[in-house]
Amino acid sequence: MALERTFSIIKPDAVAKNVIGAIYNRFESAGLRIVASKMVHLSKEQAEGFYAEHSERPFFGALVSFMTSGPVMVQVLEGENAVLKNREIMGATNPAEALAGTLRADYAASIDENACHGSDAPESAAREIAYFFSADELCSRTR
Ligand code: PPS
Repeated sequence: MALERTFSIIKPDAVAKNVIGAIYNRFESAGLRIVASKMVHLSKEQAEGFYAEHSERPFFGALVSFMTSGPVMVQVLEGENAVLKNREIMGATNPAEALAGTLRADYAASIDENACHGSDAPESAAREIAYFFSADELCSRTR
């Protein structure tokens, strides 16, 4: 299978818990490579833009407030089946439903503060990667 890329965020709750390295270890142990990475403190406008598809949902204001409450790590992961693999590593959106051993089961307190984000499809991955990274910031093994 061809290499695929996905976009990942380690959210403010997980950054505050000091588990960035532990989460990177999960990615790497699963065969995903980190090909771009940076820490950012999102502005309200950046968070609203990133989550624009959810703007009509009741939790939107709380989501934007949470995502701007502290720094996040944003990264691009590359590997075989990267989108699905990262979703499996993360576990279900609601940590109460996440399988044991997943990031959300281990590090998330609630559906509102759930430790990590991962693209849900290759198309959204491309859009989300471009939202945070320019092409020359991607140190891909495919180039
Ligand atoms: S859902 O519930 O299946 O529609 O969730 P999804 O479309 O995958 O993504 C919703 C994003 O909003 C975050 N979020 C919440 N979702 C549901 N309910 C509540 N209360 C809520 N609060 C925040 C959720 O984590 C998804 O964000 P990401 O960054 O993709 O994890």
